[in-house]
Amino acid sequence: MASKKWSVPMRVYHWLNSLVVTLILITVVLRKTVLDKYLVNGKIQGFLTGKGIEIDKDVTMKLAKIIRSEMWEWHYIFGFVLAFLIVLRIILFFTKSGKLVIKDAFSFLTKNKKDNYWVKLLYLAVYLSIFIISVSGVLMYFYKDLGWTHDTKETLESIHVAVMNIIIYFIPLHIIGIILAENEDESGVTSDMINGGGEDS
Ligand code: HEM
Ligand code: HEM
Repeated sequence: MASKKWSVPMRVYHWLNSLVVTLILITVVLRKTVLDKYLVNGKIQGFLTGKGIEIDKDVTMKLAKIIRSEMWEWHYIFGFVLAFLIVLRIILFFTKSGKLVIKDAFSFLTKNKKDNYWVKLLYLAVYLSIFIISVSGVLMYFYKDLGWTHDTKETLESIHVAVMNIIIYFIPLHIIGIILAENEDESGVTSDMINGGGEDS
């Protein structure tokens, strides 16, 4: 039986990964907007002042952080799912569908250069980013258990946040790229990622 372009595990990986990355980004947006600790602290202080109650700002800041941490737990839950998924993707690199991206990305080194090999190089950069963000995230989560200092955790966090930017720029570019491909020479790429597509050439 002819094998499909995308195997079932590759398709499941792609859509689960897209979902989990989106959910993680939502936790980041919430942390930076409605659940920002200064904003929540300001709301608590405003409420207390209205009731004629005075409580030290440092105490209410702790309360603001507790409220935020309820939501931020999801960052860790989805984070561990993302870390599990990238391990799955590494295993998939040893399968026919999974290594397609490497074959196409480095086709410029061969006589059979693919037109859009640079898109595949970008995909490899994204996989590397997801790997780095997962490793730094898991290490930050366990930094106390590993006996590391807060400074080390801060260094990991700066790597984690810098890599996030690559993912943030990638997503809209990826979606625009898919829309262009669907409207030009590669129509059907999205349904291929859903139904597996035809036999790989
Ligand atoms: C798309 C993937 C991810 C993105 C975009 C992302 C984004 C971020 C951002 C922006 C921060 C800094 C928050 C701040 O202090 O302002 C952060 C912190 C953190 N992230 Fe992630 N993250 C991702 C994946 C993960 C994963 C896979 C884990 C692993 C469990 C993880 C664990 C952590 C931890 C432990 C912190 C430190 C939180 C703290 O000290 O309060 N993240 N992440
Ligand atoms: C609704 C949103 C999305 C759609 C419609 C979509 C669609 C697609 C399609 C059609 C492909 C196959 C492209 C090809 O044949 O060259 C693809 C590949 C890929 N997508 Fe997405 N995608 C979405 C979201 C995401 C997100 C959020 C990420 C990660 C942050 C992502 C990462 C990737 C990667 C890494 C590949 C390469 C797969 C491989 O060859 O290993 N996608 N996507």
